[in-house]
Amino acid sequence: MEDGFVKTYIDGFDDKLQGGIPEGSVVLLVGQPGTMKSSIAFNLLFNNAAQDDKKALYVTLEQSSKSLTKHMVSMGMDPKQVIDKMEIIDIGLIRKKLTQLQDQSWMQVFKMYTKNLKETNDYQLLVIDSLPVLNVLAKFSNPREELFHLFEWLRDLGVTTLMITEMTPDSAKFAEFGEDFLADGIIYLRMAEVGDISVQRQIRCVKMRSVNHNGDYHSLLFDGGQFKATKAITQSRG
Ligand SMILES: Nc1ncnc2c1ncn2[C@@H]1O[C@H](COP(=O)(O)OP(=O)(O)OP(=O)(O)O)[C@@H](O)[C@H]1O
Ligand SMILES: [Mg+2]
Repeated sequence: MEDGFVKTYIDGFDDKLQGGIPEGSVVLLVGQPGTMKSSIAFNLLFNNAAQDDKKALYVTLEQSSKSLTKHMVSMGMDPKQVIDKMEIIDIGLIRKKLTQLQDQSWMQVFKMYTKNLKETNDYQLLVIDSLPVLNVLAKFSNPREELFHLFEWLRDLGVTTLMITEMTPDSAKFAEFGEDFLADGIIYLRMAEVGDISVQRQIRCVKMRSVNHNGDYHSLLFDGGQFKATKAITQSRG
């Protein structure tokens, strides 16, 4: 699976990545609150399942599976359409496992669960939503080191991972613990101020190892059930 690509299914963006995300990568999907991180990640899984017959696991730690599903259905992506190809697990489910296995740490349970599902379902795509919440739950004592091991562990798992992470509105940093250096790729979402009163959703590929990608900002639109990236033509201040 080394040579393939995973399409983002954002029209006009995959060609900027020369086809998509190299399989096996760990990619950060980073942005401020409400920049459609979860939707972009879900859209990638949904379309890869529906159109490319790829299996996927979405781990939602920030919102319940029910709330995530509701949002995605409202965007025209009903998980029922890909029921045998996409699994969603949420924090409630992991907590349940954690009570059953009392001598295990949160991280051990998380890894055991994702690994077991890999063995039984053989999913190729994984979303972790989100890294800051994972950090809180796993109580990383040395985040840099523990993230380094987690990223290596994910690469060994043999899946392509989208790791959602958050930026505060006043921060220009993509990462808190050096995960920007650890990741194979970074896709950045922002709301850019255009003129005095408008804001525009934008997307840019900051980094993608082994890909000669375009790093410009693109306007991000969701139109007719489809994400689209077009050249950002308006001068923005954000
Ligand atoms: N049907 C829709 N079409 C277009 N945009 C929508 C639609 N439904 C919701 N949105 C937008 O999607 C945004 C939320 O998307 P999403 O949950 O993917 O963002 P997020 O970056 O994951 O947010 P959070 O920071 O809360 O995790 C909302 O701010 C809303 O403006
Ligand atoms: Mg989200």
